[in-house]
Amino acid sequence: MPRIIRGRTLSFLRPPADGDDWDAFVYEPDGALVIDGGKIIASGRFDDVKDDGQIIDFKDKLILPGFIDPHIHFPQTEVIAAYAAALLDWLNDHTFPAEGRFADPAHAVAMANHFFDTLLRHGTTTVSAFCSSHAASVDAFFAGAEARNMAVFGGKTMMDRNAPDAVCDTAETAHEASAALIARWHGRGRGQYVITPRFAITSSPEQLEVAGALAASHPDCLIQTHMSENRAEIALTADLFPAARDYLDVYEHFGLIGAGTLLGHCIHLTEREVARMAESGAVAVHCPTSNLFLGSGLFDRARLEAAGVRTALATDIGGGTSFSMLRTIDEAYKIQQLRGHRWHPFQAFYETTLGNAAVLGAEDRIGTLAAGTDADLVVLDPRATPEMALRADRIDGLADELFLLQTLGDDRAVVETFVAGQAMKGNQG
Ligand code: GUN
Ligand code: ZN
Repeated sequence: MPRIIRGRTLSFLRPPADGDDWDAFVYEPDGALVIDGGKIIASGRFDDVKDDGQIIDFKDKLILPGFIDPHIHFPQTEVIAAYAAALLDWLNDHTFPAEGRFADPAHAVAMANHFFDTLLRHGTTTVSAFCSSHAASVDAFFAGAEARNMAVFGGKTMMDRNAPDAVCDTAETAHEASAALIARWHGRGRGQYVITPRFAITSSPEQLEVAGALAASHPDCLIQTHMSENRAEIALTADLFPAARDYLDVYEHFGLIGAGTLLGHCIHLTEREVARMAESGAVAVHCPTSNLFLGSGLFDRARLEAAGVRTALATDIGGGTSFSMLRTIDEAYKIQQLRGHRWHPFQAFYETTLGNAAVLGAEDRIGTLAAGTDADLVVLDPRATPEMALRADRIDGLADELFLLQTLGDDRAVVETFVAGQAMKGNQG
């Protein structure tokens, strides 16, 4: 029996050019989604799509596609808020020791449950995650997602140097383990494997070659890594790869750069790197709460967009400080303010839904409320707190309301999260 989810629905069709571009989305003040078999089978005005079946009426709440977080570290949930000067100290002092504990399958399973429940409480229905270097963490990640029927992307972090033994593999073991994990999890249910060399500093040339070979033999797998986050990281990378023209060239040399490559951070780029990213279709993933927390720098969205580089928005937990994509949009907006630009809420909510789906190659299934797609949804309450309710009485229109949600909202604004049509937060009604 289909169910009808009623409320104010908002779904993007393409990137909005600006705040006046109302053709870039469909907004129904009295909208409805008919859900059956985990899919949206009809979407539109309540009066038009009314069907037999149970009505779940969210009244004046806003219903969007579930949020998508395309760069997050599953084993770093317990690292958020670790006091450190900058990236490399933070990795060595806090992050690598925490990731070392994921060799223990019981720990990995317990943390996976915490991780997914936290995501769903914040309205995030899809992630692309770095697991630890241990296969047990990848198994726990995909099994945790499968138990909740979530569409997830993720992979074993490959790292064979410049880190403690407890988190290091080798070129050979990384190859064997990644290939076995691809066979086990890629395309199983809603899971997709991502080839995941951590970054140039922790992978030998031999290991990056292995990553390139995996990518060549699995062209339908995305690739994720980090690039140009921090000046000390860039200098050390140049020392480790003296023949490379720049940071991007390290990855390009090993066949790791293309339209399926997600590059976390991309803050301090050369002109050549920007031009090559635009040409290749590689994605710059902005992680604002992390960049501010680690003092890494201010992402230059306007420069990248002007050059035609594809962008995405992510939390980067646990360098990032919040699981909330609303908090993440807010910090991204403030970074643009510091750079003398603004980012309209239509553009921000596009990127957090359909835009992030598109960089994962999944826009035909998620990030949208279009009929025929998966029923992954978030229901938002712009009056979730007394401060929000006060402000909500003084604003007018959809853009103001989205701006209120991004500026003051967090998990308290998430009334309900649906995964393949199932309510996962338990606040519906
Ligand atoms: N660079 C390499 N590894 C990491 C990581 O875990 N977090 C962040 N922010 N940057 C990285
Ligand atoms: Zn990261």
